[in-house]
Amino acid sequence: MEIIKFDTQQELDAYAAELFINTVNEKPNAVLGLATGSTPIGIYDKIVERFNENKVSFKEATTFNLDEYVGIGPENDQSYAYYMNKHLFSHIDIPAPQTHLPNGMADDLQEETTRYDAMLAAQPVDVQLLGLGHNGHIGFNEPDVNLSGGTHAVKLKEETREANARFFSSMDEVPNYAITMGVGSILKANTIVLAVRGADKAEIVKEALTGPITTSVPASLLQTHARVIVLLDREAGRMLD
Ligand code: GLP
Repeated sequence: MEIIKFDTQQELDAYAAELFINTVNEKPNAVLGLATGSTPIGIYDKIVERFNENKVSFKEATTFNLDEYVGIGPENDQSYAYYMNKHLFSHIDIPAPQTHLPNGMADDLQEETTRYDAMLAAQPVDVQLLGLGHNGHIGFNEPDVNLSGGTHAVKLKEETREANARFFSSMDEVPNYAITMGVGSILKANTIVLAVRGADKAEIVKEALTGPITTSVPASLLQTHARVIVLLDREAGRMLD
């Protein structure tokens, strides 16, 4: 595991963006695993900036997002599909059919998770971007006694709903369920980039990266992966030497 600390958010964003850009420049048909939340926004802005400077093209790339809320469609500005279009897809040259997110509006969620896993199996992820939840969740893999390997529907913990309520106009509007890639699917990526910022994440960063490997901190399973690059701002990394 490689851990890199940055003095500023801008440096972290630029470094992460460059990792993805280099991947696509070396392998134009690369498969990128993408994440949402507030952390990746600056990274996506930087990718768009580099795209506008003609430093990269995503025409042949494919993307898979980690997760999506159940019950809200892509036209809803709180859906992750809407977020991805707003922050990345609409600004770069990736053809829409090559961008994938779980469909949170599917009639049969079980069938949807099987469909998503089949696509992931056919196109393994080269580089997966991850953020970190305050309780150690990755994607929407919440702490539990067991973790699911593949894509699955999950009931969100109240703490996760509360953490994400800032994006909604009221707590009642925060969905109760989501579809997420499983920890097993995430660990299949060739390289994983975990980006974390902010003092409020310092403790969980330390626990996930240096504590015991346990399903009660899903991100701790990243310790079992051979190629993880952790990007931290000063605050998030302050409890690590
Ligand atoms: C959500 C997403 C996660 C993300 C987490 C942290 O729960 N499902 O993929 O990592 O939020 O988000 P933030 O970067 O806003 O702290």
